[in-house]
Amino acid sequence: MTAAPGPGARRLEGRLIALGVTGSIAAYKAVELLRLLTAEGADVVVLLSPSATRFVGPLSFAALSRHPVESDVLDLLPDGRIGHIVVADSADAIVVAPATAHWLAAMANGLAGDVVTAAALATSAPVVVAPAMDGDMWTHPATVANVGRLREAFGYVVVAPESGPLASGQSGVGRLAELPAIVDAVVEALDSQPIRQPDAARRPPITDGTPREADLVSRRIVITAGGTREPIDPVRYIGNRSTGRMGAALADAALARGAAVTLIAAAVEVALPEGADVIRVESTAELRAALRNAMASAPAPGASDGSDGRIAKPADALVMAAAVADFTPSKPQDRKIPRAEGLTLELSPTPDLLGEVASLVGEKRNGKAAPILVGFAAETGSLERAPGKVAAKSIDFLVANDVSEAGSGFGTDTNRVTIFDRSGSKDELPLLSKREVADRILDRVAAALDARDSDAQTAGMQQPTSSEGRSR
Ligand SMILES: Cc1cc2nc3c(=O)[nH]c(=O)nc-3n(C[C@H](O)[C@H](O)[C@H](O)COP(=O)(O)O)c2cc1C
Repeated sequence: MTAAPGPGARRLEGRLIALGVTGSIAAYKAVELLRLLTAEGADVVVLLSPSATRFVGPLSFAALSRHPVESDVLDLLPDGRIGHIVVADSADAIVVAPATAHWLAAMANGLAGDVVTAAALATSAPVVVAPAMDGDMWTHPATVANVGRLREAFGYVVVAPESGPLASGQSGVGRLAELPAIVDAVVEALDSQPIRQPDAARRPPITDGTPREADLVSRRIVITAGGTREPIDPVRYIGNRSTGRMGAALADAALARGAAVTLIAAAVEVALPEGADVIRVESTAELRAALRNAMASAPAPGASDGSDGRIAKPADALVMAAAVADFTPSKPQDRKIPRAEGLTLELSPTPDLLGEVASLVGEKRNGKAAPILVGFAAETGSLERAPGKVAAKSIDFLVANDVSEAGSGFGTDTNRVTIFDRSGSKDELPLLSKREVADRILDRVAAALDARDSDAQTAGMQQPTSSEGRSR
């Protein structure tokens, strides 16, 4: 026997519910159903049949569910996984509401021609079906037989339609059941079963995050983005695959949270946010110079970094999302090297920019609150080198990802990262949009800044004044 949930308890907390919507006039009601399911604590992913997309667009569903809407059975998820299989394998229940006569027939015959039938066929989770249609369609022997097969042979829960005015202008049985009754049927179908797939990484990807508060107002954040280009000669360079998406997402997120943002941008393929002070650089050497200026505790009088004195206050944090070259040509030429001469490149290692900043702020800001430093490490395969880097570089956080993994790394809109901190603990995040990854990183930065400030305040309060010191 399971304990009855207390008053106010959310009955679908932690559950993943797949909401299948098919081409009925009642499809608009599915938006409200989604809201009711999320109000019960469910994580909801929406599947639309192609006809359903003619009745309701995916935008409201995507915005409310925070998952991409799946409407084409042949489309893959952004990370390359097969959408309907991910849903089938991770959903605690599939609820099809409204279910058309056509969908009931397709399902009864196992025809996986749309994403809703395909997910239902591939799942071992309970399926709840709420039909809606014209009265004559509902009483037709074909529909009666199909509903019977779904109930008896498949074990589906059918929430029968109700009597009332129909889209045809007639009145009869065929109206979609009341939405709370459909939610109750889902809760009941799940009973006390454990959550099927608690690992968010194995659920459908999340597209958007909870909007954050303006918790970075009066903070100045320096962010680097894009890939450096190391000159071989005036025409050629050595570059990398960074597109600047992660850095731009960080800048966007930091601006939205009220920060003043200095964005040092190497080569990028994305638009940069308008509210940021953008400093363009190309090579690692230029990035190094811009970084030193941007991190300076106060701009040197008359010093110019191209930002026209925009650096008004010392940086509170640095997030190094740029992909900085590890090697640069030892002897870049100032004239184009002719093909006939042949070319053998000698490369020299570049300086560790983050390590340099760490020691710079350590020396120069002795006694004052130092900025929070966040590094990125793009690895291929294991992330085992990452924790050592946090200590070696003397930084606060290292964001590591395996760029060889599908959907993670260069040129994608998603990323799966692990955040390592100084204490040695790690936070393995699921596959998320880069904007959500940016917010998760800034959550840590904002908390670290608050902790830094309250430590400084406590130290200030405990510091004896000179008169107190003498009187002891
Ligand atoms: C305005 C309009 C309303 C419709 N409403 C319903 C309905 O409530 N129930 C139903 O079974 N079919 C309804 N249909 C017919 C379906 O849209 C049609 O059978 C379609 O092929 C269903 O595709 P699907 O089951 O793949 O979503 C409606 C059609 C139109 C044009």
